[in-house]
Amino acid sequence: MALLTLRAFRSIRAVPSWIPRTAYLRPTIRFSSISTVPSESLKIQNRDVSVPTGIFINNEFRASLTSSQFSVENPATGEPILSIEEGREEDVNAAVKAARAAFEGGWSTSNPVERGELLNRLAQLMERDKEDIIALEMLDTGKTYKQASNLDFPGSVGTLKYYAGWADKVLGLTSFNIPGTFAYTRREPVGVCGQIIPWNFPLLMFIWKIAPAIATGNTIVMKSAEATPLTALKCCELIKEAGFPAGVVNLVSGFGKTVGNAIANHMDIDKVAFTGSTATGRAILKSSAQSNLKKVTLELGGKSPNIIFPDADIAKAVEWSAWGINMNFGQTCHAGTRIYVHEQIYDEFVAAYAKRMGSIKVGDNFDPSVDQGPQNSKMQYDKILGYIQKGKEEGAKVELGGNVAEVDGSKGGYYIQPTIFSNTRPDMKIMREEIFGPVVCISKFSTEEEVLELANDTTYGLAAAVHTKDYERALRITNGLKAGTAWVNMYNFVHWSIPFGGYKQSGLGRECGEAALENYTEVKAVYMNTGIPAPQ
Ligand code: NAI
Ligand code: MG
Repeated sequence: MALLTLRAFRSIRAVPSWIPRTAYLRPTIRFSSISTVPSESLKIQNRDVSVPTGIFINNEFRASLTSSQFSVENPATGEPILSIEEGREEDVNAAVKAARAAFEGGWSTSNPVERGELLNRLAQLMERDKEDIIALEMLDTGKTYKQASNLDFPGSVGTLKYYAGWADKVLGLTSFNIPGTFAYTRREPVGVCGQIIPWNFPLLMFIWKIAPAIATGNTIVMKSAEATPLTALKCCELIKEAGFPAGVVNLVSGFGKTVGNAIANHMDIDKVAFTGSTATGRAILKSSAQSNLKKVTLELGGKSPNIIFPDADIAKAVEWSAWGINMNFGQTCHAGTRIYVHEQIYDEFVAAYAKRMGSIKVGDNFDPSVDQGPQNSKMQYDKILGYIQKGKEEGAKVELGGNVAEVDGSKGGYYIQPTIFSNTRPDMKIMREEIFGPVVCISKFSTEEEVLELANDTTYGLAAAVHTKDYERALRITNGLKAGTAWVNMYNFVHWSIPFGGYKQSGLGRECGEAALENYTEVKAVYMNTGIPAPQ
C-alpha cells in the first residue's frame, strides 16, 4: 500500500505544475505560409467590442484558403455588420488535420482533471467578457438583453461548469462475474467530432456541443451558422487564452452546402453532432451512410403541443403558454406552437391569452423595455410571413397579429407581430410544419384520449406540456405524450443537467446531462484471462 502511494506520488511529481500543459502534447502539424487575420473592432451601442474574423485552426485565426469572405448582417436593420473569412472544403480539410493531430498527439489521453480545468477556465473568461459576448450575440441575432443575459449566457457558462465536473468522473464497469476472467470497460473519446450548429442559439449551441466533447477528450471541427457566426469566433479567442492546446477546438465559419457538407462527408471525422432543421438532419445522416458511417446525433425540429385542462391555474397557464412562444421570439425548437384548450375554459383562455400576447412589445432589441426583437434573418422572416399567409388562406381565424410589426426607425428590420390562429384543423400546414416564429395555433378538445391523440398527431416529438392541478392526470398525460421533454405547469424550461432530445423525427440521441457523454465516448470491453484454458 505504501509502495503504491509512493509510485502514484512520483508520477504526479514527474509533471511539475510550472510546465505549461501544452508541453504534454507532441507538436501538431504546422502549415507553411499561413496568413492570419486580425480581429475587428465593433461599436455596439456605447461599447467597443473586438471580434476575430478568421478561420480558427490550431489556435490561429487564419485567412480562408480560397480567399473568400462573407458578410454578417444585423437583423434589426438588414445592414451588414462586417465581413469575415468564409471557409470551404479546403479549410475543413485543414481543420480536420489539425484536430486529428491534436487528438493523436496527446489530447485523447490527456489528464481529465486538466480538461475539466480548461472548461472552468473558459467559463471564467466568458464571465469576465460577459457584456462583450452578450452585445455581440444581440447584434448578430436580434435577441433582447433579457434573452441573452438571463438565458443564453448563464445556460452556456452553467453547461461548461457542469461538464468540467464530469471530466474525471466518466468511468467504466468491472466484472468478476464470468468465471476465469476479469472484464472491464474503458470509455474512450470517439475522435475528431464535426459539430454543426444553428442560428437561433449561436452561443448556447456552441457550448452545448463543445463541453461534453472536450470533457471526454475529443477534438472538434465546428461550423457555426452563416447568419450568426460572431459569438463562436469570440469564444475561440477565449479558448486560446484559456490555454487549450492547439487543434483541440477548430472553427470554420461558412455555409451549409460547402462547410457543412464537407464535414458531413469527411472520411476522417468520426462523429457529427448537428442541431437544425429535420431536412438538413436527414441529409447529414445520408452523408454519414455514404461516407465513413461516422456516428451521428441530431437535434431537429418540433411542433410541440401544450395542453390546458380546466382545473389548471389559468392565469399561470396563460403566462407559461405566452413564454412557450415568446422565448426567443418563437425561434426555438421546443416552442409550444400547438395549444390545446379544454372546451370548458376555451373562450376564457383564448381571451386572456390574446390579451397577454397582445401586450408583448415588439421593437429594437437594444431597448430594455422590448420583449420581442427582430426575427433572425430575412430568410426566416419571409418563411414566417409565408406561413401566416398560408394560415389565412387555409381558413384559420386570426385572433391576434397576423402581420409585419411596424417599429419606429427600424430601417428594414425583420419584425413580426405575435400571431394567434384559432379555428385550426389538424391537416393545416400551420398545424403540421415548424414555423419558427411568434406564431401559435389554438385548438379545442373535450377528453383526455382525444387530446393525447391530437397532441401526438405529428411527425415531431421534441417537447410537450400539460397544465393541470390533478397529478394523476398529469402523469397519465406525460406518460402518453411521445416527446423527449414533457413539462407540467410550465413551458420552455431546459437545464443542462437533464437530457434533451427528440422522439420520432425530432432527432437522434440526447444532449445535456450524463446522456451527452455517451455521444462522445466509445466503450471498449477488455477481457483478462485469469484461468480459462484455450478451447481444444
Ligand atoms: P438548417 O438546418 O439548414 O441550418 C442549420 C445548420 O446546418 C447551419 O449551420 C447550416 O449552415 C447547416 N447546414 C445547412 N445545410 C447543410 C448541409 N447540407 N450539410 C450540413 N450542414 C448544413 O436550417 P435553416 O435553413 O437555417 O432554417 C430552416 C428551418 O430549420 C427553420 O425555419 C427552423 O424551422 C428549422 N431550424 C431548427 C432549429 C432547431 O433548433 N431545431 C435551428 C435552426 C433551424
Ligand atoms: Mg446575423
